[in-house]
Amino acid sequence: MAEISNLDGVFYRKADDFFSANSDIGLTYDDVTLATLYSEVLPAQTKLDSRLVDGLQLNIPVISSDMDTVTESRMAIAMALNGGLGLIHYNMPESEQLKQVSRVKYHVQGLIQDPIKVSPDLHIADVLELIEEKRFGFSTFPVVDAQGKLVGLLSGHVVKPRYAVKTVAEALTPRAQVHTVTRKELGNDPIAVADKFFTEHVGIHKLLVVDDEDRLHGLITMSDVERITQERKAQFKPARDSQFRLLCGAAVSATRNAFGELDRERILGHVGALVDRGLDVVAVSTAHGHTKGVGDTVRMLRDAFPKLPIIAGNVTSASGVEFLADSGASVIKIGQGPGSICTTRIVAGVGIPQMTALHVCSKAAAAKKVSILADGGITKSGDIVKALTLSHGVICGGILAGCTESPGEVIEIGGKLYKQYRGMGSLAAMKAGSAARYGHEKSDTTRKVAAEGIEALKEESGPLDRVLASLIGGIQSGMGYLGAADLEQLREKARYIRVSPAGQREAAPHDVMELKTRS
Ligand code: XMP
Repeated sequence: MAEISNLDGVFYRKADDFFSANSDIGLTYDDVTLATLYSEVLPAQTKLDSRLVDGLQLNIPVISSDMDTVTESRMAIAMALNGGLGLIHYNMPESEQLKQVSRVKYHVQGLIQDPIKVSPDLHIADVLELIEEKRFGFSTFPVVDAQGKLVGLLSGHVVKPRYAVKTVAEALTPRAQVHTVTRKELGNDPIAVADKFFTEHVGIHKLLVVDDEDRLHGLITMSDVERITQERKAQFKPARDSQFRLLCGAAVSATRNAFGELDRERILGHVGALVDRGLDVVAVSTAHGHTKGVGDTVRMLRDAFPKLPIIAGNVTSASGVEFLADSGASVIKIGQGPGSICTTRIVAGVGIPQMTALHVCSKAAAAKKVSILADGGITKSGDIVKALTLSHGVICGGILAGCTESPGEVIEIGGKLYKQYRGMGSLAAMKAGSAARYGHEKSDTTRKVAAEGIEALKEESGPLDRVLASLIGGIQSGMGYLGAADLEQLREKARYIRVSPAGQREAAPHDVMELKTRS
């Protein structure tokens, strides 16, 4: 029997000892638990910033996945505002991806750059129908003519069935009475300008932004300004570049030409255009990153853009990490088959449970001085804490897919609200463009290819801010239990033990009738 003082070390082991002792079994998040340690760290004091590579620093270690039901510009903006990062997916024409990146990079917080407008010749009945169809939560609209010039403001007070037969032109507040500001007048701190305006103009809740020709360029609402003023006091600041723009990432695939060769010209041209728009990091995203195609793509991008942070993946082996690091990747995605919508392990019979994969890959990453991201399989904040003991950040799909900011419509089934969530290896997503990620041609999807993902629904989960706040709270709690003031200390201090099936049941609520699972 070990000395009492050594007992903890016998049962609760550091990563090297623990994973070596369990080298004959693949372990994932629920298979392990972390041992608590003496702590002087309060959760609220913990720091969550993570430097993935020079020039890419996040204030929270959470990245939204490059999936077509998770990250487009709206999600990427919200992620960066919360201190994280969004990777814009590539299931869209290249020109559209460029636009999406521009939207994030030129996002002025609080300024709705492309507000929904109506034209003067519509009827109020048409506007009511539009609100119903698009489920808008607002009913005040700027009115613009065919040239984009401001004609007036249609106030929510007149968008009522009672006025259905009136035209917008008859019901609007005329241009002369609408409060506007020019883009120049907004200067460097639009929120401060708008805040002052709303204080000085009692009862006015909307401020329109125009250019010198009186064309509409945006809308600022008082409620947004108030929310932002509150947020400025938040612990985790938005993730920004050196020019104070929000961080943005985008995924690309190893596109091939008609001869089956890497389409060098196309990939370089597109990534060059993304970089011109201010892209902070490109992700070469595939299901199998330890391949010649991905290695060649990463090497080609590294040669063409020596300073651009490159994320590449996915791999689950030390040799895969070494290969991508040697090809020029700065950050490597770890995960094959853990995702909530993935069927790779079932269909192809390959993949490694996530904690074991992360440990193996973390050793190679440390030797190569690159960072790794835990991609897929995260269903709760505790999984993130476990992942961060071995990685520098997590990539989340399913846990964010129900958010207001994810692409797609809200669907109502049996009184509950849902959003669509689908694997990028599902047939529908591959048809929409992601076939290359799984080593298929887009045309292959018309004949029989094995899908490696499913189409699903996620319960609508409200605004990203709220979802992230509870995840962050959980991460900070975990760090408090381990006495870790920052993520580096979390990686150093973590000690693990395996959990039996009974232990897993014990970990979840049990022997009670659950009344409420969400606040
Ligand atoms: P979560 O668990 O967060 O996983 O929903 C998201 C991650 O899963 C990967 N992904 C897939 N893997 N088939 C797969 O095997 C798929 O169709 C698929 N789509 C996404 C991806 O790494 C993502 O970040």
